[in-house]
Amino acid sequence: MVEGDRMATAAAHRTAHADGAAQEDTSAFQAAFDAAVAAEERIEPRDWMPDAYRATLVRQIAQHAHSEIIGMQPEANWITRAPSLRRKAILMAKVQDEAGHGLYLYSAAETLGTGRDELLDKLHTGRQKYSSIFNYPTLTWADVGAIGWLVDGAAITNQVPLCRCSYGPYARAMVRICKEESFHQRQGYELLLSLSRGTAEQHAMAQDAVDRWWWPSLMMFGPPDDESAHSAQSMAWKIKRHSNDELRQRFVDICVPQAESLGLTLPDPALVWNEERGHHDFGPIDWTEFHDVLKGNGPCNDQRIARRRQAHDEGAWVREAAAAHAAKHGNAGTGATHA
Ligand SMILES: [Fe+2]
Ligand SMILES: [Fe+2]
Repeated sequence: MVEGDRMATAAAHRTAHADGAAQEDTSAFQAAFDAAVAAEERIEPRDWMPDAYRATLVRQIAQHAHSEIIGMQPEANWITRAPSLRRKAILMAKVQDEAGHGLYLYSAAETLGTGRDELLDKLHTGRQKYSSIFNYPTLTWADVGAIGWLVDGAAITNQVPLCRCSYGPYARAMVRICKEESFHQRQGYELLLSLSRGTAEQHAMAQDAVDRWWWPSLMMFGPPDDESAHSAQSMAWKIKRHSNDELRQRFVDICVPQAESLGLTLPDPALVWNEERGHHDFGPIDWTEFHDVLKGNGPCNDQRIARRRQAHDEGAWVREAAAAHAAKHGNAGTGATHA
């Protein structure tokens, strides 16, 4: 359907509500929505959409936004201890990129009618989640490399298909985010390569970081397909394009040759090429650990949220100043209070 048509039908739908005749009309709008999704058209903020589609997007985009800004913490931990000016400049740029990703995503969620203040409140009070990977500590400098290579690498594998997500603002945010994530992945790889080719101690440090980050990175793709609560509906809506297990397999297949080039091993004795499947087989994932970290029992859950709340409180004066500025210039209510 042409975008103008969908906007016209959305307007008609609102009228229908006012007339009390919403029941029949909703099915017509549902049909138009289904046809647009089937035709690979983008759903835009002013189009009619099912309530559950909107709620699913808000939940997913919020969780994604929260992950971006919480993900700043484990790496920012190393900015003051970066081993050279070059490494420090790269790491600062990367951490700032993650803040930017959070901003694009909170803005995408706002197009669905949910404000950033509400989402942040849900994050701070534990009612919305962020990726569990960020509840692990960054113990050595090599962790910055392992996060870039594996965590940003897994994020790219997850997010490239989201560039074709049926919801326009989310899909468009993903295009830019993926370009920046590619830079993050490369810098992590290059950092690990330097360490791997360095002294015996540096090589051991790189190997230790990969040993600790490998399994949590595989868990980033979420539970196995048969236990994934939201997958089927999200795929029908074309929010999600591939299943968790498919993406996880793709990631493993990408990482194996890269680990070889790095001169590092992946900590899985069961990892082997399967000629018949055309993929690597890999060992079982410890889902007990995954669920435990998800429940809040990871090594850094409390620390991450406490730091986030502190940063939010310390930024109150910025929000107040932005609101005062907006009021002075007659722009109150345009979203400036969320700055
Ligand atoms: Fe990011
Ligand atoms: Fe990143």
